[in-house]
This record gives sequence, structure tokens and C-alpha cells, in this order.
Amino acid sequence: TDPLRLGIAGLGTVGVGVLKILRDQADLIAARAGRPVTVTAVSARNRDTDRGVAIDGFDWEDDPVVLAARDDIDLFVELMGGADGPAKAATEAAIAAGKDVVTANKAMLAHNGHALAEAAEAAGRVIRFEAAVAGGIPVIKALTEGLAANRIERVMGVMNGTCNYILTRMQATEQGYNALFDEAAKLGYLEADPNLDVGGIDAGHKLSLLAAIAYGTRVDFDNVELEGIQAVTLEDIRQAADMGYRIKLLGVAQMSGRGLEQRMQPCLVPAASPLGQLEGGTNMVVIEGDAVGQIVLRGAGAGAGPTASAVLGDVIDIARGFRVSTFGQPAADLRKARPARAAVP
Ligand code: HSE
Repeated sequence: TDPLRLGIAGLGTVGVGVLKILRDQADLIAARAGRPVTVTAVSARNRDTDRGVAIDGFDWEDDPVVLAARDDIDLFVELMGGADGPAKAATEAAIAAGKDVVTANKAMLAHNGHALAEAAEAAGRVIRFEAAVAGGIPVIKALTEGLAANRIERVMGVMNGTCNYILTRMQATEQGYNALFDEAAKLGYLEADPNLDVGGIDAGHKLSLLAAIAYGTRVDFDNVELEGIQAVTLEDIRQAADMGYRIKLLGVAQMSGRGLEQRMQPCLVPAASPLGQLEGGTNMVVIEGDAVGQIVLRGAGAGAGPTASAVLGDVIDIARGFRVSTFGQPAADLRKARPARAAVP
């Protein structure tokens, strides 16, 4: 059978994680995908970085837009990041050239998700993005596949491991926000723009994607009520603890009579609850469906292995021939039929 040929743009933590799993688990992936999955070409900012994985067996492209449109790739894997700029240009080029796309880029999707999904649909292509939300936790597949028969009543969770690390360590070590911010920076946990983490923006991007999937609405990041963790003090944490609570950067999406409510802000959660006990760098997503009741998903929301696991799950789905739009219903129909804040049908 023909291999599925990948072009991968972006060889940071996640891209390298993808290459390592493809190298180490080629047989398992070929068996699950029903065909070999190979890498044709790669691009990244710097060719000569020591990544701990050989890339000399792949063609090199300086320009991700050129990579994305190459005749000898079937699927474009976008792991560069950034809401606009090269990631978006390359994704558009891939779709225009008739490629499917797998991306981990929550910022790009929160701002341009439906435009890209519409373009993909018009071209008969799919764009999949499990890795964009909660890293290794297959929460998008849970919503779109396992829970497809449910009316979703609420989606909530802790979706930024770095904020959860800082808040959990404030509680455990009695150090203030600034000291723990510096610790997170030293450990390499913060995004290049730390405000994406501590300002709640990264988590807000993820929540807006889950909300759109859960409720069949357009991605509406601009209407996420957003508050970061910068103003949380040690005193807040102590008072919460005295009352039996923890402070978490918690996202909640639900439909009310006024439409879709999306909030991402520091919240009190009972110390003994699953959310209250969630440790440092991890994520937790809680989904409430009318038939299933409440389910809780917990795991690594970042890192090479977990995020690459989600990327390759999407790649294998596409290799098998899975071609359903992630947004649950055709993106083009949503634009025609639905206001951004849909009322409860
Ligand atoms: N910086 C994010 C986090 C990981 O700490 O959870 C990628 O979204």
C-alpha cells in the first residue's frame, strides 16, 4: 500500500517528539494506520540545531509555505505555532495544494479556525488538531466521537499546566507569585511570550476550541471572559486553603439562556475534589453530557511525548481514511446559519 507522506514544519519540542515516535514505533504505526507513515521533508527556523534525532534523511525546506505545497507530500503537519504569520500562510498553502493538515496550533485555530476549516472543506480536505487542546489528553476525540450522542451540558477544566504549576507551588512552598514565575521560567515551562501562559490566553484559546466543538458554534475566542493568574497573591492562596479550597485557573464553557458562556479565570475549587487535587504541570478536563453524566480526563497537557502522541493520533486517523470535520458540523454551514453566540436551540 502507498505510504502516507508527511511534510513537517517546526522542529521544536513537539516536532522532535513526532520524529522520535515515527522512528521508534514505525511498525506499530504502520499496523494501526494500515499503511506506512513516512516523512518526506521538514522545515524549521534552524537546520543545524542538535535535536537528538537525525533529520538528514529528510529533504530540507527553508520556507514552510513551499514545504506545505510540495507534490510529494500528502499531509502537512504544522508545529510552528503563532496565530498568524508563517503557520497560517503554510496551512493555507497546504489546503490550496490539496493536502490534509494536522496542527497543534491553538492560537492559529482560536483566531482563524473556522476560516481554515471552511477552506479545507471547500477543498475536500480535513484539518485535525487534537494536540491543540490539553496536549496528550484526547479530549477532542472524546467530544466528537465517544460523546457524539450527548447534548453537552458543560465543559470545564484546567488547561494550562504552567499556571497550574505556579499556583500549586505557591500553595505547597508558601512562596509568592514572582518567585514561582521565576522558577517556572528556569524550568523552561513558560511560552516564549509568558503572557500567553500567565495571562490565561493559551488556556482561553483551548477553551474556545472545546466550546465550539461541544456546542456546534463558531470559534469565538474574543468572547472568552479572560483573567490570568498574575494578581493571585499568597494571601489569596492561604485564605482559600483555610476554607478548604484551592485556587485554579479554571475554564468553563456552557450554554445558558443568553447563549454560550466562556470563562477562563482563577477560581476556588474544593481541595478534596479532582480539580483541587490536580498536581503541578498536568491538565484536567471535565465534561458533562446529558446521557453520560460527568467524565473526568486527566493527563499531561504539554511536553514532547504527550503532544506528539496527540499529533500522531490525528495522522493515523487520516491515514486510515477518517475524514470528518472536527467542528462537528460543516464550518461553512455554521457561518450561514449561526450567530457567534447561539441561543440554546
Ligand atoms: N504552555 C502550555 C501549558 C502548553 O503550560 O500548558 C502548551 O499549550
